[in-house]
Amino acid sequence: MRILGIETSCDETGVAVFESGRGIVAEALSSQIALHAPYGGVVPELASRDHIAKLGPMLRELLAAAELDMNSLDAVAYTAGPGLIGALMVGGSLASSLAYGLGIPVVPVHHMEGHLLACMLENDAPEFPFLALLVSGGHSQLVRVAEHGDYSIVGETLDDAAGEAFDKVARLLSLPYPGGPALAALAEQGNPERFDFPRPLRNKGLDFSFSGLKTAVRIALQALTADAELDDATRADVAASFQAAVVDSLAGKCERALEATGMDRLVIAGGVGANRALRQRLAAMGERLGVRVYYPRPALCTDNGAMIAYAGWRRLAGGQSGAAPIVARPRWPLDELRPPQSAQPTGGGL
Ligand code: KG4
Ligand code: ZN
Repeated sequence: MRILGIETSCDETGVAVFESGRGIVAEALSSQIALHAPYGGVVPELASRDHIAKLGPMLRELLAAAELDMNSLDAVAYTAGPGLIGALMVGGSLASSLAYGLGIPVVPVHHMEGHLLACMLENDAPEFPFLALLVSGGHSQLVRVAEHGDYSIVGETLDDAAGEAFDKVARLLSLPYPGGPALAALAEQGNPERFDFPRPLRNKGLDFSFSGLKTAVRIALQALTADAELDDATRADVAASFQAAVVDSLAGKCERALEATGMDRLVIAGGVGANRALRQRLAAMGERLGVRVYYPRPALCTDNGAMIAYAGWRRLAGGQSGAAPIVARPRWPLDELRPPQSAQPTGGGL
């Protein structure tokens, strides 16, 4: 089966073709960084408009570059949520009309299931069951994955998501949007032990909290800038110390969750999974605990069309039928999903 995947949930337009038995045969990504940078964050209406302008041409170029005919597609998958409603509608409308025109099935995909399964696009794919750390701009969750489509949230953030905390602290440090990668780059040059920022809820339960940490950074910066300009070395030390606190919190909760669930496989997924310090820390923790740690290459951690094509393929291959109505759900709890053979085809719609 050859399936097209379309991702338009936020600020990246992603398209890819996955072929069973071969893997990803074509992919393209267009980032909206330049568009949103002047505003310091994503402007939803601009995001939708840019998806509209880019998606059609990107799709034509993708198929032409891979020498694939539109008629050789067997199915279409698109991100149906969670995400920005206007942005989701662009991908959902194009995917659904394309599938209708070609007479092929179309499958709405949960964005976080896409992230969760992305590591299976790598050669060394994990088997079920496993524990997953899902860390993106909107989500920070520890998920017990019993099998494909059977997800229980065992821990999650009580306030900000990890990526959101990176982005907000990056703004405090006057770093350009998108803040997470910029902050991570600055942190590489700093001393992670210079500031002792809090590790909230460290020895309590499996939930995360990052808003107190963000406030602690703000207060430290106010004190540092009270009567002097922040020098570059201190900025880097703040970034490194903040990153160390986030990594500590995430790794600590992973260890507690591994213990609580008895899992011996850990999968890292979502944009923050691209963070080098986090990957190194979790790899070392895995070795110490005898747990296999899986993470996809950084480009598959952040938003992309390949993970959506793959997640859609797995649902169709698992027996889920295609869905006619366009599905767009800004909010969509991951644990509402069911394995493909017992899933409602639409998963809820407009
Ligand atoms: O998964 P993703 O691409 O989009 C969402 O589904 O939200 O995640 C984006 C988030 C942003 O908050 C971004 O700042 C963060 O992931 N991020 C990083 C890094 N790369 C992306 N955070 C820390 N270190 C990175 N290297
Ligand atoms: Zn994402």
